[in-house]
Amino acid sequence: MYNISFESDLEDDEKASVMIVDDEEMILQSLELVLERYFDVVKVRDPLLVSDILKSKKIDVLITDEMMPGIRGCELAENVHNEYPNICKIILSGNSDKKDIVRAINKGHIFSFLFKPVDINQLLQAVKQGLDHKRMKEKIEEQNRNLEANNRQLLKEVLKKSTKIMEMEKFYELGKFSASIVHDLNSPLQTLITGYEILENEISASMPEKDSASNILKLIDNSLTTMESMIKSISNRISNNLSEKPVNFDLNDLIRKNISYMQIKYNNTNPVEINFMPEDIPLMKGVPLHFDQILSNLLKNAYDAMQNTEQKKIIIKTFVKSEKICLYIYDTGTGIKPDDLEKIFEIGYSTKEHGKGTGLGLVITKQMVSSYKGKIKVESDYGSGTGFLICFPISK
Ligand SMILES: Nc1ncnc2c1ncn2[C@@H]1O[C@H](COP(=O)(O)OP(=O)(O)OP(=O)(O)O)[C@@H](O)[C@H]1O
Ligand SMILES: [Mg+2]
Repeated sequence: MYNISFESDLEDDEKASVMIVDDEEMILQSLELVLERYFDVVKVRDPLLVSDILKSKKIDVLITDEMMPGIRGCELAENVHNEYPNICKIILSGNSDKKDIVRAINKGHIFSFLFKPVDINQLLQAVKQGLDHKRMKEKIEEQNRNLEANNRQLLKEVLKKSTKIMEMEKFYELGKFSASIVHDLNSPLQTLITGYEILENEISASMPEKDSASNILKLIDNSLTTMESMIKSISNRISNNLSEKPVNFDLNDLIRKNISYMQIKYNNTNPVEINFMPEDIPLMKGVPLHFDQILSNLLKNAYDAMQNTEQKKIIIKTFVKSEKICLYIYDTGTGIKPDDLEKIFEIGYSTKEHGKGTGLGLVITKQMVSSYKGKIKVESDYGSGTGFLICFPISK
């Protein structure tokens, strides 16, 4: 019998399966005798059956004769390689010259080429090394797959974080810009108001009975009052909200400022009735700008959803439930189809026409809510309305 120096190594491989392909029954049997001690062996006399057998049986190593009727071993190895690149291929040949060996290695992706009569030790060594090589290759492939999955995950995270930062910066810059405009508008407005008061006194003193003049004065007075309240409301909304530091603030107040801002903004294009039902809630701790952004994203979506609906109503409630401060915003807009509900928090999902929606509003909203350990939920009746519920733990 043969003496195998690496027998214990082979025993680790007992589950590996080896296919032997040779048109000579004697050779098949003798190889089987050697290999079946360590491996699960499949003998194949007709090389043309190999492809069918591989469909139903997992094979780790293919040992094939080179000279067979119908097909050469290296061609068979090449065919197998095309479908099963990880199977380790070993060729046995009786009378091969260099050309055969080179062709077999190049075409058939052969792991080893052995000469007949086969040295058993050499064959077992080749199978063992081939299996190690195959396992290593599979391990590397698996690691690569994991790395790729991790990379994809990381890329997603980076994208999420950078869009959030970009949005925050945009919002912050916009806030600063609006603050400066409001400030610049306020001084000429005050001059107009003072000028108007002087003019009004003079006109009523010199022309006490002129109806047309007093009508014009009333018109100017109304416009000035509207402009003043608009500027006050915008300035209220902006004031104290540019700080990035967490402070204690009243969420109900912040909601009121957002409501008045939205009503002024959409007064002419899409007027909506907003019904605010605040309850007494504890102060929130956080950066008011973040909550402004949450509210403005949700309110903007609600307004957009009611662009063409007959009923245009928003209901906002605040309350405390299970030790959480909750905010509920409901609109009578188009609603969301049940299948689309889980998509609305995905990056880039938007049903708005090109250029109108970036599909980031709710992604950022959800991230902001979770950064305060809060939860956001949505419920919608397609065709009648949508409600968002956000709950934050009460700040200690
Ligand atoms: N209140 C709502 N009613 C109906 N559909 C809504 C509502 N809120 C969100 N959606 C749906 O969810 C989608 C995603 O909303 P999201 O705020 O993330 O993006 P967007 O509004 O399309 O764009 P933007 O980035 O400018 O906010 C919307 O395009 C819309 O289809
Ligand atoms: Mg939006």
